[in-house]
Amino acid sequence: MAEVKDYSKYFNKPSLKEAKSRKRLNVNIETFTTAKSMADIGKGKNYHIKTYGCQMNEHDSEGIAGILEQLGYVVTADETLADVLVLNTCAIRENAENRVFGELGRLKPLKVTNPDMILAICGCMSQEEAVVNKILKKYQQVDLIFGTHNIHRLPEYLHEALISKERVVEVWSGEGDIVENLPRRRANSVKGWVNIMYGCDEFCTYCIVPYTRGKERSRMPADVINEVKELAAKGYQEVTLLGQNVNAYGKDFKDRDYTFGNLLEELRHLDIPRIRFTTSHPHDFDELMIATLAKKGNLMEYVHLPVQSGNDTILKRMNRRYTRESYLQLVRDLKTAIPGVSITTDIIVGFPGETEEQFQDTLSLAKEVGYEGAYTFIYSPREGTPAAQMEDDVTEAEKKDRLRRLNEIINKGYLDGNMRFQDQLVEVLVEGPSKNDETVMSGYTRHQKLVNFKADPAVIGKIVQVKITEAKTWHLFGELVENASDTSA
Ligand code: 5AD
Ligand code: SF4
Repeated sequence: MAEVKDYSKYFNKPSLKEAKSRKRLNVNIETFTTAKSMADIGKGKNYHIKTYGCQMNEHDSEGIAGILEQLGYVVTADETLADVLVLNTCAIRENAENRVFGELGRLKPLKVTNPDMILAICGCMSQEEAVVNKILKKYQQVDLIFGTHNIHRLPEYLHEALISKERVVEVWSGEGDIVENLPRRRANSVKGWVNIMYGCDEFCTYCIVPYTRGKERSRMPADVINEVKELAAKGYQEVTLLGQNVNAYGKDFKDRDYTFGNLLEELRHLDIPRIRFTTSHPHDFDELMIATLAKKGNLMEYVHLPVQSGNDTILKRMNRRYTRESYLQLVRDLKTAIPGVSITTDIIVGFPGETEEQFQDTLSLAKEVGYEGAYTFIYSPREGTPAAQMEDDVTEAEKKDRLRRLNEIINKGYLDGNMRFQDQLVEVLVEGPSKNDETVMSGYTRHQKLVNFKADPAVIGKIVQVKITEAKTWHLFGELVENASDTSA
């Protein structure tokens, strides 16, 4: 196929080499503004966003939606009515990428019925050199590609794509800035996400994220605190602090000694009922964080603590910077400081060269920790990462079998984690009716357990007391304790 010609003033493809760099000393903090001339470009038009992957992407989509609405676009649930259709993509594993390529094929006919529709790709896949080259060559239906570092420039790119009718490709591979004041259309009015940091400097050898999300950079504590206060004032009941490695928060500050523990300590005093955070890297968990979490209050008794493997050799080859024993010690410390804490994790099976014996270490560690949940994955090679160069002699069948054996233990952990609440009174933040029954309400406990119970929809958005009557593997059933229903204040 002939090389695609692009005449747009924006044609900047990603570079893996540049994405590896961590040279820049200072992080710029920008404030989002839209030019007045663009304020109406979406008037009378619709947008639709499809989001793949992690909570960071979900939250980015709230920013993209906020920008589009500021330009006058209105959300539509019907993709065939979209004038702007955005795919916010995930690059963490190959199957996540394949889903997006499949979607691009499926969506192609929409461009025939509505040739003026702008089909945009953003998120982690657009930060990958090989992916962008493939899209440019094989997916002519894509009009706009922008990256994770330049979401705030979306108004300009849309303007250019609409005026020039050329493909706009603008991906920044540098280390990334911080942009404040982005408008947001939040998906939920009870629970909200708040970014505390962006990027990742860990460079785990299997992971593409440090390349797609750039340098680790923390938002100013005052900006985080103000955002949490704003959400609290709007009636939000729960905030989840987001970062690829929240425990590294503040390590990049040049002018102050301030870490995640300090931030938690300040947030603890705010008038918001619940604070959660994700994701933690075990290497960066320190005593102050544990001691602060132990004070409970609005800090939930729940920690997602990705371990990836239970074997020291594999952990070393993954560049995880902790050992099986230091991880187990951290778990013991958390359990001692926060009695009853629920711990969940992420595990990869079939890392290149993983032997059956090494895998057995992961199984025994999972049993020893007693995880109450886990995301388990088969290793997926990511182009440009060190692990993709390692010899991988584990067969596909073996990898699948390891995943199956691991999931048996993990599923038992889910059930045990739920069983311990049998006949107990738990606090539930009610999110809405359950998927299958309008008369049944659903919500999560402090330990992040899903609870279903019969109640009037008036309890939605409140924190109520529920007596657990039945524990299943994936959820709990209970009865609303009426006289304690107004504990949300
Ligand atoms: N293959 C499989 N799983 C991966 N993860 C990250 N990179 C890969 C990969 N190349 C998993 C890790 C991480 C989670 C978000 O995704 O377990 O914690
Ligand atoms: Fe990827 Fe490791 Fe960073 Fe997590 S800590 S985003 S697994 S590189």
